[in-house]
Amino acid sequence: MKDEVLAALRERGGYVSGQELCDRFSVSRTAIWKAVSKLKEEGYEIDSVPNRGYCLLTSPDAMTEAEIRSYLHTEKMGKSLVCFADTDSTNIQAKLLAEQNAPDGTLVCSDQQTKGRGRRGRAWDSPPGEAIYMSLLLRPDIHPEHASMLTLVMGMAVADAINELMGGESAGIKWPNDVVLKGKKVSGTLTEMSTEMDCIHYVVIGTGINVNTQKFPKELDQATSLRLAAGHNFRRAELIALCMKYFEKYYALFERTEDLSLLIDEYNRLLVNRNREVRVLEPGNEYTGLALGINNQGELLVRRENGRVDEIYAGEVSVRGVYGYV
Ligand code: BTN
Repeated sequence: MKDEVLAALRERGGYVSGQELCDRFSVSRTAIWKAVSKLKEEGYEIDSVPNRGYCLLTSPDAMTEAEIRSYLHTEKMGKSLVCFADTDSTNIQAKLLAEQNAPDGTLVCSDQQTKGRGRRGRAWDSPPGEAIYMSLLLRPDIHPEHASMLTLVMGMAVADAINELMGGESAGIKWPNDVVLKGKKVSGTLTEMSTEMDCIHYVVIGTGINVNTQKFPKELDQATSLRLAAGHNFRRAELIALCMKYFEKYYALFERTEDLSLLIDEYNRLLVNRNREVRVLEPGNEYTGLALGINNQGELLVRRENGRVDEIYAGEVSVRGVYGYV
């Protein structure tokens, strides 16, 4: 009941009478009062005025089911939701849930991680109270070779979600899927999957977003947060819900063609490397070229000095700006 009451108060944005809540959820006044008391215990400030009802004044920046659900308006993505105060890694937990038949679109979130993992076997620093750690479980009916493109789809969703929340067009994508703000990394995604022959059992798309981080360790000098870029805090649950909204929209377009052909224009619009000199770091073969954009498979097109255009597949290859990270 707590989740429903919170969602109703947030939706209204003003006073909602106790009677209206009772009628809407077919429960007693005591049940509503108990739900409001629980929310207050969790840090929500709720005003109650006789004859007017309840009004949500302030909310904590909590990574709880109630908080995330109160912002979520998707059909499938995140509808099945599991939230942890602390866990090893949301990717690990999403994979465990997948093995236990959790449904397509299940979202796992945590306030902190003790074994957060990044790409290329790196650790992902995951302190509490300031960032988003989330993993989305999908059961796509596509060929396993096409699944790596889902990482790019999530990158687009995160960039658009950040831009909507910050009210501007400041977030972009560094190929293939790092989201950057003012030239620094604000989000990364690690996709893992379980396959057999030509079929996918499940895919887990794990994303970390630095939201209210104020300071990074020295070795993470290329990292930034929404807070550092904008100068104020953001509500993590709201950003999660926006990521799910955009991911659901883009995933539907991806599923139609099993490639990025319906998303390529939006992706290339967000691509910060576009029309810039990049350094391609391929094991045993490093070179500089002009990044033109991606193709329908998500490969980066790079024009070399001799005019030849290479199609770069993300796997082993990474790309840097000639003068720095982007
Ligand atoms: C990268 O190296 O850029 C990818 C980072 C992915 C981090 C996220 S945080 C949520 C999920 N759980 C993990 O252990 N990793 C991903």
